[in-house]
Amino acid sequence: MTAPLTALAPMQDVTDLAFMRTLTRIGSLPSIFVTAYFRSTPTTCAIAEANLRCIEENETGVPIIAQLAGSEAAPLMRDAERLLQLPVAGINLNAGCPSPLVNRHGAGAGLLRDLPALRACLQGLRSVVPTGQFSVKCRTGWADTAEFPAILAEIAAASPDLVMVHGRTRKALYAAHTVQPETVQQAVSYLNCPVLGNGDITTLQQAQHWLAHICPAGVMIGRGAVRNPYIFRQLRGGPAPTTDELRHYFTVLTEETNRILHTKRTPAGHCNRMKKYLAFCYDYFTPEQEHALRRCTDIADMQRIFDHMQTPEE
Ligand SMILES: Cc1cc2nc3c(=O)[nH]c(=O)nc-3n(C[C@H](O)[C@H](O)[C@H](O)COP(=O)(O)O)c2cc1C
Repeated sequence: MTAPLTALAPMQDVTDLAFMRTLTRIGSLPSIFVTAYFRSTPTTCAIAEANLRCIEENETGVPIIAQLAGSEAAPLMRDAERLLQLPVAGINLNAGCPSPLVNRHGAGAGLLRDLPALRACLQGLRSVVPTGQFSVKCRTGWADTAEFPAILAEIAAASPDLVMVHGRTRKALYAAHTVQPETVQQAVSYLNCPVLGNGDITTLQQAQHWLAHICPAGVMIGRGAVRNPYIFRQLRGGPAPTTDELRHYFTVLTEETNRILHTKRTPAGHCNRMKKYLAFCYDYFTPEQEHALRRCTDIADMQRIFDHMQTPEE
């Protein structure tokens, strides 16, 4: 049996190059990275520099898949061909982003309520992406999981090589307790390719439960990995992080963020960048520390708070 895949879920402005490098330095790498989406429209491909850097400066040794969000086949095909010139392991179609701005144009989860558009995008991308390199990341419906069988039929017809299912509808957004693992199971049974389960997996025990009972091919973890980046090490049989290791994580992330910001860095800008990750980590801190972190404009102050962080076990 092959080892399950462990993917870092794409998170715009969060799972960036600094975060990828941090995972390398702390020795906790997933088996796949996926970039946050490049927005593909008839007139332009918004080649976001930060996402491009994840590909061009990926020195982690972990393959990286480039994700596209769009609602028309031709621009997606054009941009996939362009991204395939770069050192990417494949192309992923985003059929899950719930942002109203993206959905208004029929992209992201917007594709889930327009099956002809979804079909055209899937078929178009399949025709230009080499075998073994085409994947889809989807939610389980726009408003209701009753829509999922028809969505799965469209996905199956395009024969993707890998599918990631975030077990929520678009309507559920990110609401607590709305992940439905049985819908991920439905995709596993229906599709002929590996399916990675995604949604609110935050602990080793949860990941192991999903792998054993829901999606044996693998799991994709986003916010849980920002809060505990050692989860990939744990999934490879390594130990849970100590408090010192978590403090070290914040220090390394501060250094790597400094490195990507480089000459564009200002003290407040550096703190604001750190707050993008901290948004998923505040429960490590006391209410007073959280208050101070949220208002921090000086990176040395931020570092002092990290140094005094205590996990609940201490
Ligand atoms: C801040 C943020 C940005 C995200 N950006 C993307 C994105 O660019 N592409 C994508 O497919 N999903 C994106 N997602 C969704 C995640 O990849 C993932 O599906 C979702 O967070 C559920 O997984 P989790 O509970 O493990 O975080 C984003 C989520 C968050 C919270």
